[in-house]
Amino acid sequence: MKKKLKVLLLFDSPYFMPRGYDFNEEFRDPDWDTERDVYRALQQIGHDVNVLGLHNDIGILLEELKENRPDIVFNLAEVFNEKPNFDKNVVWLLEMLRVPYTGVSPGSLLICNNKALSKKILTFHKIKVPDFQTFHKNHRVGLPKALKPPLIVKPLCEEASRGISRASVADNEKSFIKRVNFIHKSMNMDAIAEEYIEGRELYISVLGNRRIKILPPRETTFGQFPEDKPRIGTYKAKWDDAYRKRWGIKNVFAKRLPDGVDKKIEDICKKAYRALNIQCYARIDIRITPESVVYILEANANPCLAREDEIAQSAEKSGIPYNELIQKIIKLAFQRNR
Ligand SMILES: Nc1ncnc2c1ncn2[C@@H]1O[C@H](COP(=O)(O)OP(=O)(O)O)[C@@H](O)[C@H]1O
Ligand SMILES: [Mg+2]
Repeated sequence: MKKKLKVLLLFDSPYFMPRGYDFNEEFRDPDWDTERDVYRALQQIGHDVNVLGLHNDIGILLEELKENRPDIVFNLAEVFNEKPNFDKNVVWLLEMLRVPYTGVSPGSLLICNNKALSKKILTFHKIKVPDFQTFHKNHRVGLPKALKPPLIVKPLCEEASRGISRASVADNEKSFIKRVNFIHKSMNMDAIAEEYIEGRELYISVLGNRRIKILPPRETTFGQFPEDKPRIGTYKAKWDDAYRKRWGIKNVFAKRLPDGVDKKIEDICKKAYRALNIQCYARIDIRITPESVVYILEANANPCLAREDEIAQSAEKSGIPYNELIQKIIKLAFQRNR
C-alpha cells in the first residue's frame, strides 16, 4: 500500500452540493461528527483527501470517479435520496467500476440491514437470536401465537432506533396491533416482532477480514430508569441528551461480566461476523440474560466512526488510537479487495 493515498471521502448529504464543495461549514455541526473526524484523521495521516456529499444525483459520483479517480473511497454513505435501502446501490456502483472502498460489501449491507434476513442466517449457524416474526404491509396483523410476550415491535429495515420508543414493547394484542400499524402506516415500512430479551445490553466492536479482532465491550447502563419499564435503547434513550441526563442513562465500558461470558461473547461475535460475511469493521449489539445466555440483537455494518462512537472508544481502549483505526480500516479494505 502506498504511504500517501488519494482518498475520496464519500458520505450522504441532506441537500445537493456540487463536486468540489468543501463541507467545512457542515463539519462544525455535531451531526456531522463522523464525517469531520474521519476527514481530519485522513488529513493528519497524510493522505490527499477529497470529499463528496451525495444527495440525489449519482452523476456527480460517476464524474468524480472518472475525472479524479481515487486510490480508494472511504465510504460513509448511509442513505441515497434519503432512502436507507439505497446505501448498497452506491457500493454496488463502486464494485462495478472496480474502485476499492472501505466497509462491507453491498451483499453484506443488504443482509445486515434487514433484521429478519440476518436473523435467519444467524439461526442457520446456530447463533442465538430472539425468536421473531415479520409483518409486511397490507397483511393481516395479529399477536403471533408462536412467540412469548412481551414482544418488541421494530421497523424491519431501520437503524439508530428510529421508530423505537417505550410503546414498542407490547404484552397484549391491542398494544401490539397498534404498534405494528404505526410502523406500517406512519413509517411506511414492514415490521418485525421479536421476543423481548431481558438483560444487559452490550456493543461489541469488531475489526478484520479473515483474521478478526474483538474490541473491549461497551454497555448502556440505565441509571435511575424505572426497573419495571423496559430498559431499552429507544430513540430518546440514545439521542436525547436531556432525557439521558434525567434518567442517568450512560454508555460506558462494560463492567465485570460473569465468569466465562467474555469468551462466550468473543466466540459468538466472531462466528456471527463470519456468518454474515462482514468485512473491515462492524458493531454487534447483544443482550446477556441473567442466566448468561448471549443473544445477538443485530449486527451493524459500517457503524458510525466518530471519535465519540463505540468503535472508536473500544479501539482506543485496546491500544488503537483514532488515526490508527482509520488507517487500519483502509488497510483492511485493500486486503479484502486483493
Ligand atoms: N429482542 C429484543 N429484546 C430486548 N430489547 C431489544 C430487542 N430488540 C431491540 N431491543 C432494544 O431496542 C434497541 C434498538 O433495537 P435494534 O434492533 O438494535 O435497532 P436499531 O437498528 O434501530 O439500533 C436495542 O438497542 C435494544 O435496547
Ligand atoms: Mg442497534
